[in-house]
Amino acid sequence: MPGVCHFNLFLLLFPCGVTKGASQTLVLDFAGHSHTKHACLLKKFPSMGSVTVCTQLRFDLNSSGFSTVFSYSIKSFINEFQLRANLTRGKRVQLTLLVHGIHGPYQEAFDHDDAWHSVCVSWSQNGGRWELFADGLEIHSGDGLNGTDILGADGNFIIGQEYKYFRGSFKNDRSFSGSITELHVWNRVLNSSEIAIMKKECSPVPSGRVFTWREEDMQIESAVPATPMFLL
Ligand SMILES: *[C@@H]1O[C@H](CO)[C@@H](O)[C@H](O)[C@H]1NC(C)=O
Ligand SMILES: *[C@@H]1O[C@H](CO)[C@@H](O)[C@H](O)[C@H]1NC(C)=O
Ligand SMILES: *[C@@H]1O[C@H](CO)[C@@H](O)[C@H](O)[C@H]1NC(C)=O
Ligand SMILES: *[C@@H]1O[C@H](CO)[C@@H](O)[C@H](O)[C@H]1NC(C)=O
Repeated sequence: MPGVCHFNLFLLLFPCGVTKGASQTLVLDFAGHSHTKHACLLKKFPSMGSVTVCTQLRFDLNSSGFSTVFSYSIKSFINEFQLRANLTRGKRVQLTLLVHGIHGPYQEAFDHDDAWHSVCVSWSQNGGRWELFADGLEIHSGDGLNGTDILGADGNFIIGQEYKYFRGSFKNDRSFSGSITELHVWNRVLNSSEIAIMKKECSPVPSGRVFTWREEDMQIESAVPATPMFLL
């Protein structure tokens, strides 16, 4: 059965190798390609001139094509802030960031290997500067990714899907297939040492954090199994 019985495997697969005691988290499983499976963050975001989003995820080995990890939408832009992957079996996972509907270059991040990886993306209106981190290391950065405006307030932050139109249905071929946990949002750009430390200690930096991964702050679609797991 897809999506269940991951519990025993989990302790082996989870990327956080540092003993932190029994701190518990929730893993969402998006098995197969579906145009309904999603989770929505129950959070009213302010407008933001800088942002960082970090998460831990694994892509199903069999998934291919475009895969939306998360998508923050406002009325004027479906892709106000989005992390999207381009997957090809046997090739490295490529990631890109979209801001105000414009996407940056696809960049190779890590092997498409069914294993857990940590990913952080940051963006700042100041110069449209963006950075992409995989497994605690900065792998790519650039400038000029649509720094015309700050990110709009009161949008919808969706995990696993991209809207066809604002608060409407989802695009059929852009779903996420894999597992995801520990997604946090900050209203500032985290620097590379903060991200490296966070990866090592497996605990999110408190300063500037505007969304914390918690079951009660999410609306999880019923077809998405949510499994409590212990961080080792
Ligand atoms: C992945 O694809 C292979 C070959 O197409 C198939 O045998 C296998 O059952 C698929 N696995 C899953 C989990 O869908
Ligand atoms: C997605 O990845 C495939 C395989 O590497 C590549 O051929 C294709 O051009 C990529 N698509 C985009 C939009 O970069
Ligand atoms: C950038 O974003 C603004 C809105 O914030 C939009 O009007 C503009 O067309 C976008 N495109 C480019 C290439 O900057
Ligand atoms: C990264 O940010 C932290 C917290 O703001 C700061 O103490 C540290 O000096 C910064 N490190 C670098 C290399 O900028």
